[in-house]
Amino acid sequence: MQVQHTVVDRVDQVADDVVSLVLRGDGTGSLAPWDPGAHIDLTLPNWLTRSYSLCGDPTDRERYRVAVRHDPLSRGGSEYIHHYVRPGRALQVSLPRNHFPLLPAPRYLFLAGGIGITPLLPMLAAAVDAGAPASLVYVGRSTSAMPFAGELRSRYGERVRLVATRRDGRPDLAALAAELAPDTLVYCCGPAPMIAAAQAVFPAAYLHTERFRPAVRTFAANTPFDAVCARSGRTVPVAADQSLLDALHHAGHPVATGCREGVCGSCEVTVLAGRPEHRDDIGAPAGRMYACVSRSLTPELRLDL
Ligand code: FES
Repeated sequence: MQVQHTVVDRVDQVADDVVSLVLRGDGTGSLAPWDPGAHIDLTLPNWLTRSYSLCGDPTDRERYRVAVRHDPLSRGGSEYIHHYVRPGRALQVSLPRNHFPLLPAPRYLFLAGGIGITPLLPMLAAAVDAGAPASLVYVGRSTSAMPFAGELRSRYGERVRLVATRRDGRPDLAALAAELAPDTLVYCCGPAPMIAAAQAVFPAAYLHTERFRPAVRTFAANTPFDAVCARSGRTVPVAADQSLLDALHHAGHPVATGCREGVCGSCEVTVLAGRPEHRDDIGAPAGRMYACVSRSLTPELRLDL
């Protein structure tokens, strides 16, 4: 995995349980470019890797900004960032990747739930800069729990509607869908119930979603298979109770790791032959699979490793 070396420039509390980190390059050159919707993996000093959407200004090649919600069920990522990451701390980050690109459209509606605002912030800015009619419905339990709410209201005024559910209840997405102008692209990022509610009312062809937690789905029982690594010439058996990613790691094949839940895309591998069973929430491109969750429908998968 190609990495970039950054230094934490700022840590700011941007909501009750959310901090934003501004990362700058280590002085050896500009940071890699990115487009709205992109994310980076942060490799933390405790060896965990976590993915975060970039929510700063894509034209600023000197800095990245991400925001991190403190997850009470943290497996060590957000916990570490909230407690130990301070200005001056060196952090390795991946190159930006984008599974949630902003497509050209005559108009946009953005739907954000909580920390799901992060990929939508630069999208809204890009849409407004392009002169497209764009509005944001931003939902959180209270305005103090909604990162960047003040920044959004002061920058975009009436384009932004803040919905604090404790005060306002849930937004009526069916009413929003009913009054949607033709050809409006809808971008939604938030918790699973919000995405499900959006999928129930907006036409699939116009709705783009990104999850930060995997959808709950059921799959056939796991079966073992072999991963044939074409470049090394090694065959790696993958047991039924083991992920392809773990099997590859145990066999000494370095595959990048992030969420381990099929939502970040860090562990993408190229499939040369065989039929993968895709279990990710990203939508693997043809010829690729995500090794942390996806398995095989054939006894053997040939991988470009
Ligand atoms: S590690 Fe995130 S998709 Fe596999």
